[in-house]
Amino acid sequence: MPTGAIPVRPLSSVAVAELITAAQTLLSTVGSSADPALLAQVPHVAASLSGDIRHACRPVDTDDGLFVLRGLPVDDEELGPTPHHWSGAGNAGALYDVVLLLVSAVMGTPLSWEGQQDGRFVHNIVPSAGHEEEQTGASSSVLLSPHTEDAFHPGRAHLLVLGCLRNHDSVATTAASIRRVELNAGDVELLSLPTLPILPDDAYAEARSYQGEPPSVPTLWASEEGLTLRFDPAYTPLEKASEEHREAYGRLEAELSRVSVAVALTPGDVLVVDNDLVVHGRVPFQARYDGTDRWLKRSSVRVPGRRTRPPAERLEHGYGQSAVAAYR
Ligand SMILES: [Fe+2]
Repeated sequence: MPTGAIPVRPLSSVAVAELITAAQTLLSTVGSSADPALLAQVPHVAASLSGDIRHACRPVDTDDGLFVLRGLPVDDEELGPTPHHWSGAGNAGALYDVVLLLVSAVMGTPLSWEGQQDGRFVHNIVPSAGHEEEQTGASSSVLLSPHTEDAFHPGRAHLLVLGCLRNHDSVATTAASIRRVELNAGDVELLSLPTLPILPDDAYAEARSYQGEPPSVPTLWASEEGLTLRFDPAYTPLEKASEEHREAYGRLEAELSRVSVAVALTPGDVLVVDNDLVVHGRVPFQARYDGTDRWLKRSSVRVPGRRTRPPAERLEHGYGQSAVAAYR
């Protein structure tokens, strides 16, 4: 898998200092990155950030469908051990929670889910004992297969923001853009029909027992800006589709695998993935559970007014889950 040219947007030392100072100031008045009083301040502080930061946070502007903000400092010792489970993270790495919230607020509106990680707006992605083989961020020993984040839901993020705090083993995140894929017109047409549902993933226990009929959704969508996708094969009942459809889906999967790139994030990197263009995953790794494991922070962003999804999505029930905006 190529590891080459990922668009990197370096943050100047001035921009880094500005972000860190803004985050420290917010935290010093409130204390916890999950406090609603801090969230209420985020859009105002984000709006006051300099043009350099706004420029670095501009929308993705290449067919890669992603970019990396680089330059934030992380002191590995000061950070403390990697939590063993998201629920034990507490306020660990809180400064980076706030930095992520600020850059997220420059790009759009941060989102959370009532049913995930206690409704927090910044999630901790750490390997957890007993979850090694799941298709969620808590896994480790299996390939986390390429997927659209929260593909089951119409309120899913437009942008996925992954901040790396620790990655001693250079565990790679994978990313594949629909804009790099080559498919024939017949396959595009077939995969643009609402044929199969995408069921909620293992991170949403409550949604998985929802009683409503799962809506069938298209895999591909020809938006005004170009082709977009909604893809999560691990939670798509492909056996219910025709053979013709399964074959087209298989060719899409093969193409995504062909164009997939591996990004080994280094501490301080913030990877921004356009969730309508790019499916992401992670290579397998061996978790140690000794405080030195890979540790990412994740925020989800909605971009108001974006038209990269079929209008019919608005009628979906979302399996009883609702995405909550950090502010209005
Ligand atoms: Fe994911």
